[in-house]
Amino acid sequence: MLITAGPTREPIDAVRFIGNRSSGKLGVAVAMAAAEAGWRVLLLLGPVAIEPPEHRLISNLRFETTADLETLLVTHQVEADALIMAAAVADFRPGSVVRGGKLRRTAEGLTLKLEPTPDLLAGCSRARAKKHLQQVLVGFALEKRAELEASAKGKLVRKGVDAVVANELQTMEADTIRAKVFIADGTTEAPKGTLSKVRFAQWLVELVETLVVERALSAAPCGCGKAH
Ligand code: CTP
Repeated sequence: MLITAGPTREPIDAVRFIGNRSSGKLGVAVAMAAAEAGWRVLLLLGPVAIEPPEHRLISNLRFETTADLETLLVTHQVEADALIMAAAVADFRPGSVVRGGKLRRTAEGLTLKLEPTPDLLAGCSRARAKKHLQQVLVGFALEKRAELEASAKGKLVRKGVDAVVANELQTMEADTIRAKVFIADGTTEAPKGTLSKVRFAQWLVELVETLVVERALSAAPCGCGKAH
């Protein structure tokens, strides 16, 4: 299982960056839950305060920028039965970076011009189709409660993924999560109530296992939908 977690940092100059408040806790919990369920896990982990999880089935690689993460995904996506994209990837980054130096304070102030980052998950979905990978893709959506459902359904289609885990904005730095999973076949799944991120991660890994099995069965060579 390939799992991404934590924020990206987009440099402005040698000392400053644009980041976000993702703690990486959920992705790390999913990595641990997957390993405990017997999966071999590669965790792609951004700049977070928490330590990478220690488990004999987990290896990890670190990223800072969206571009770093994109490179790691291009290399490692093909090895995975499932990609769980819990990283909080920047939507915008500075169009030009002052390399090796530091922007000085000026009386005029500073205007940064940002460019959109590539949608990495949508890119993985295109790569999956191109390379005929039997792989489950899971994205996340962090939204205000009122926009959660519409946004998650939009992301399912726009990013071409099998499931979107939708959770509310206050999840970002919390230890608990209240989430609903929107699945590409039109169904939804949700655990009861608010769970710790650790417990939710176990629940999510079980759901992803079901999706992996379903995908493998639907790809059975005779097309009958049964395992042989
Ligand atoms: N994501 C990604 N690449 C990006 C931005 C987001 O792969 N450049 C992934 C995230 O890891 C997450 C999912 O897409 O799994 C949804 O992220 P989000 O920021 O909510 O989606 P956006 O496509 O940026 O949509 P919007 O900002 O319009 O809500």
